[in-house]
Amino acid sequence: LPHIYGITTFETKSSALVFTLSRPKCVDEVAFQEEVVAVLKKSLEGADLPNLLFYGPPGTGKTSTILAAARELYGPELYRQRVLELNASDERGIQVVREKVKNFAQLTVAGTRPDGKACPPFKIIILDEADSMTSAAQAALRRTMEKESRTTRFCLICNYVSRIIEPLTSRCSKFRFKPLANDIQQERLIEICEKESLKYSKEGIEALVKVSEGDLRKAITLLQSAARLSTEKEITESVIIEIAGVVPPKVIENLLQTCYKGTFEKLEVAVKTMIDEGYAGTQILNQLHDIIIEESLSDKQKSVITEKMAVVDKCLVDGADEYLQLLGLSSVIMQQATQNS
Ligand SMILES: Nc1ncnc2c1ncn2[C@@H]1O[C@H](COP(=O)(O)OP(=O)(O)OP(=O)(O)O)[C@@H](O)[C@H]1O
Ligand SMILES: [Mg+2]
Repeated sequence: LPHIYGITTFETKSSALVFTLSRPKCVDEVAFQEEVVAVLKKSLEGADLPNLLFYGPPGTGKTSTILAAARELYGPELYRQRVLELNASDERGIQVVREKVKNFAQLTVAGTRPDGKACPPFKIIILDEADSMTSAAQAALRRTMEKESRTTRFCLICNYVSRIIEPLTSRCSKFRFKPLANDIQQERLIEICEKESLKYSKEGIEALVKVSEGDLRKAITLLQSAARLSTEKEITESVIIEIAGVVPPKVIENLLQTCYKGTFEKLEVAVKTMIDEGYAGTQILNQLHDIIIEESLSDKQKSVITEKMAVVDKCLVDGADEYLQLLGLSSVIMQQATQNS
């Protein structure tokens, strides 16, 4: 089944169809990241390429962009010789940087392809998920990067640019990948639905975009699960909400109303029921947050509540009891909402 959009890797030969559907295969197909596409297109036309640093949230096209560019620069044959791709699943300690990366960087290359066409006179080393490299390994890259600049370009990719050491960032052109805009995501998802002949409703697609928060990979993966799940193959809002683990708005609304009008005993029951239903604490917290911001409470009330939310969030990350944390939060909401500010 060609339903594996986002998950396929670049190398999987057997699923060529899937690959064409999923990863953009040329830089032109990369949506929404205009600056980096402009730079890469210049270098496709023969201009030099700087060392690159891509950073930004997951699923915004960082890996896809550089793979597509490398493909276009070298063509499928030369790709193997000219591109070294290392990601977090490969050993990338200081030893590997010293040996593998350095050896690859030292190879000299010609400016023509075997078929006579011109190609760039440099190689590309892609270090994906570079923020998981130790700073010692990053430091070992500094000299290599400078010494081999004649024949090698580096492309560092990461989610958190603050984890890349300063001497490396200053050697690269930095590009921030923005979370994808809603209409762009909608367009892509509808395209996929149509190619896969799935039935979908407008609300279903909108829900997908909303829950994935700019992460197109997440949206595609959810779409795939939805397609598997619903037998009549209609992608509706309720299916999406169900599989995304979103707490139904009614349940959240019920909790808030209990905070505003109920008693503490009722609040206890409401929170307990939510936890027993199996909704994740962090998910409840996030949705409560979005709603509280919009509620007609005073600024002071909202600030007290959101401050408590921050504390609860940290506690949940640290593994605190979900029930007690949410009850604590709800009682602050109750206290704030029922006292006259
Ligand atoms: N800007 C984009 N244009 C087109 N497709 C995109 C874009 N961003 C993401 N996608 C889709 O999402 C999938 C995942 O993207 P990709 O692997 O490039 O994300 P990433 O930025 O490298 O994320 P991570 O930080 O998690 O590694 C791609 O296969 C593609 O289908
Ligand atoms: Mg990636």
